[in-house]
Amino acid sequence: MAGNRFVLEIKNLSKAYDDKEVLNIEQLSFRQGKIYGIIGPSGAGKSTFLRLANLLEAPTGGVVNIHGKRAFPNGADAFRLQREMTLVFQKPLLFKASVKDNVAYGLKARGYPREEIQKRVKALLQKMGLNQLAERRADTLSGGEGQRVALARAVAFEPSLLLLDEPTANLDPSNVELIEELILDLNRSAGITIIIVTHNVFQAERIAHQVLFFFEGQVVEVGETEQIFQEPRDPRTKAFIEGKMIY
Ligand SMILES: Nc1ncnc2c1ncn2[C@@H]1O[C@H](COP(=O)(O)OP(=O)(O)OP(=O)(O)O)[C@@H](O)[C@H]1O
Ligand SMILES: [Mg+2]
Repeated sequence: MAGNRFVLEIKNLSKAYDDKEVLNIEQLSFRQGKIYGIIGPSGAGKSTFLRLANLLEAPTGGVVNIHGKRAFPNGADAFRLQREMTLVFQKPLLFKASVKDNVAYGLKARGYPREEIQKRVKALLQKMGLNQLAERRADTLSGGEGQRVALARAVAFEPSLLLLDEPTANLDPSNVELIEELILDLNRSAGITIIIVTHNVFQAERIAHQVLFFFEGQVVEVGETEQIFQEPRDPRTKAFIEGKMIY
């Protein structure tokens, strides 16, 4: 894997549901160690893209490479490659178990030794400000606490690619800030590549290095965050970030 600087590459990726195409992307490459923000109107295909990237669903057509290795089609290594990444949903699916056990889940599933699991879980709870909640049942947490547990669980096994689908929707500003700081820290300290879908264009502007604008199943524009926000090339991008797009 060393030497290949692209964590994820896709070509001619398409997805149709019942013959209706909802995604069609010519080419995209995601570099190791960067944060990518995906913005775009509802129904643009943002979540679908994350599900295809995570190999949760098979594309209708196209190619997906992860760390330079073929993941789709005929991805002999797909299962192993899938374990390099993790997808966190807007509404985290936490188990009806303690916070600690939720965070430990991925490590147990991957067969880490017990001492290593304990060490990592402890460090993560600390980092996420969840120490006091370690023994609490996850289904009794607030939205912000639950999202922090979901993030801790997602990064426990140090994935090289973290896919986030609106991780701060419905959270209050202080939890939004906390989660954004955690995302930045994961990227800076662990070098994790992050692709975050957000409805909040300001959030993309705050934390992403590059921004992708999705519209009607296509990627209309990709660029450095500053360029997208200061000088969008496509009128649709401009309308969207200015809040003038009606959809
Ligand atoms: N399982 C499915 N079956 C049929 N249609 C689907 C399915 N999943 C998604 N779609 C359709 O694909 C299109 C893209 O959906 P997607 O959820 O990717 O959009 P999105 O950009 O994430 O929107 P939002 O911002 O509202 O979350 C929509 O028209 C949606 O109805
Ligand atoms: Mg979505």
